[in-house]
Amino acid sequence: MQQQQLIDRYRRHLNYLRISITDRCNLRCIYCNPRLPGKKLKHKEVLRYEEILRIARIGITLGIDKIRITGGEPLVRRDCCGLLEKLAAIKGLRDISLTTNGILLEENIDSIKAAGVKRLNISLDTLNPDKYAQITGYAGFDRVWSGIELALEKNFYPVKINCVAIRGVNDNELEALAALSLTYPLHIRFIELMPIGKMAAPGGPPLLIPEIKHRVQTLGNLIPVRHTPGDGPAVRYKFENAAGEIGFISPVSNHFCRECNRLRLTADGHILTCLLSDIAEDIKTPLRLGLLDADLKAVFLKAVARKPFQHPEHLTPLSQPEQMVSIGG
Ligand code: 5AD
Ligand code: SF4
Repeated sequence: MQQQQLIDRYRRHLNYLRISITDRCNLRCIYCNPRLPGKKLKHKEVLRYEEILRIARIGITLGIDKIRITGGEPLVRRDCCGLLEKLAAIKGLRDISLTTNGILLEENIDSIKAAGVKRLNISLDTLNPDKYAQITGYAGFDRVWSGIELALEKNFYPVKINCVAIRGVNDNELEALAALSLTYPLHIRFIELMPIGKMAAPGGPPLLIPEIKHRVQTLGNLIPVRHTPGDGPAVRYKFENAAGEIGFISPVSNHFCRECNRLRLTADGHILTCLLSDIAEDIKTPLRLGLLDADLKAVFLKAVARKPFQHPEHLTPLSQPEQMVSIGG
């Protein structure tokens, strides 16, 4: 095991790196990628795979042991699976996972598996194909669902379903989504909508976890599942005799900053210390200037030293990052 050197001012051990490999996406979810044509990174602004690998290796020598690949949509970038394979082969990495919207899952599933990924997070907010098209801008429900079934067939574990709960959009389906966990070994995770960037989601009072939990409980007793350090911010439950689990993630009603163990690497080469803060260190410039590993380590340490205790209590338009699509959730 590597020695953990990424410990911040609040004694949080940062062992988890989320790497966004592209700011592009094949969907336009109402809560993430605004329908307006956004400013996209130019090809040369985006980290090349060799650059990502070098940064990952350095992070791992400092104590990162868990990496998640995100986007935008990571599978739209050419040879994402080649990168996954090279990352998975780095000694010291305990866990590599992928967050995807599932549209390109079917055609990539064997390569993802062969690369050594075991855990998948798939975004799915509705079971209604028409609503899926409204939320994401693309009639892709069947593709995603086939991808989910295939992931289960190929024994990925766990397969987590990320479901952003939005009043007036999918709040009439919370029970149906939760019920999936009765028959499928899926982990259904309800996520509070974070008011980030220019959102096309409807307004109205936010739909928060206590209300979601209350609704879901009409299906049966929710039995707590013991929290383990790798769980991240989800509070886990299970229905009696269910094949899968339910998770609740409450970035709005209950900040989990105190236990945050994450750093993020953005597609354009910044180490971001918090999803909702703009405190970031540029690691691409020193890397492209040819600096040594020791100097790049110093960039990591500097970012860690600046990680805020928590994000601002109230998200004002100015304190907000750009759309989620550019930072990878
Ligand atoms: N609020 C909550 N979750 C979001 N995601 C994207 N945008 C938001 C938002 N505004 C999550 C989705 C997706 C993951 C990549 O990020 O659940 O699964
Ligand atoms: Fe794409 Fe994911 Fe954002 Fe939806 S939430 S637009 S799938 S990056």
